[in-house]
Amino acid sequence: MAPQTRRPQGEVTRGTTAPNRLRRVDRWIAATQAAALRADARPLAVDLGYGASPATAVELYARLRVVAPGVEVAGLEIEPERVARGAAFLAASRGAYPGLSFRRGGFELPVERRPVLVRAFNVLRQYDEAAAWRAWDGLRARLHPAGVLVEGTCDEIGRRAVWVALGPEGPRTVTFAARLGSLDRPSGFAERLPKTLIHRNVPGERVHAFLADFDRCWAAAAPHSAFGPRARWIEAVALLSRLHPVRTRPPLGGRPRWRLGEVTVPWTTLSPND
Ligand SMILES: C[S@@+](CC[C@H](N)C(=O)[O-])C[C@H]1O[C@@H](n2cnc3c(N)ncnc32)[C@H](O)[C@@H]1O
Repeated sequence: MAPQTRRPQGEVTRGTTAPNRLRRVDRWIAATQAAALRADARPLAVDLGYGASPATAVELYARLRVVAPGVEVAGLEIEPERVARGAAFLAASRGAYPGLSFRRGGFELPVERRPVLVRAFNVLRQYDEAAAWRAWDGLRARLHPAGVLVEGTCDEIGRRAVWVALGPEGPRTVTFAARLGSLDRPSGFAERLPKTLIHRNVPGERVHAFLADFDRCWAAAAPHSAFGPRARWIEAVALLSRLHPVRTRPPLGGRPRWRLGEVTVPWTTLSPND
């Protein structure tokens, strides 16, 4: 892809971030998307919209390098001062992060080759729904043929997160992840739904029915709380899998993922009616 010559596509939005807030999605990417990360001889991952501090981009670099040692990571920000902060971090680190870069850019993804991963977290929340759909379409069109776009949102310190994984062909899965001790009931995820789904959480839409069913399964699993919130979650997800096509096999599903406070479902389980 050509280096950027024009104004970056998108809008400057609040730069709120915090170290380690994206640990749940990073752990999921490393565990389930290794094939994509290794799909290119020189794999490139993009952290789009890393925010006021480069911390979460640096963490992505460290976590991806465990499963894809040669992966390069480009942190992209539309806001120039935040790019300067990334550059200052790298200068101070004196070569400790080979293959990590920070640059100005937006949805056009001004990078040299098609990325095997684009992580865009807490970026589209501040756009309207139509713009979020356009961003999805534009970003997945720029992926490596085996690449994945992971777009989602989380709370301030990453205790609760929801993300969608998309391939070049379109959305594939939706994952819910939480620190289970902080979860009152699964419909608490509603406020973290991606922009393309958040306004669809109304009666008659699939996402609404899914969260209502998940709440019912959570209530039915209450006796398992005696063994802790994780046991209750695993039971609730097992009950849910009788009603919806929950991923029940690795790498996306099954007990090893559920134990982490995760559940992944196909996009079509929640996709909007129109
Ligand atoms: C809330 S921060 C998220 C920071 C980090 N990803 C996190 O989750 O902790 C959102 C950042 O996305 C940036 N942003 C918004 N639209 C963008 C775009 N189209 N391209 C690049 N960056 C963008 C904003 O400038 C802001 O710094």
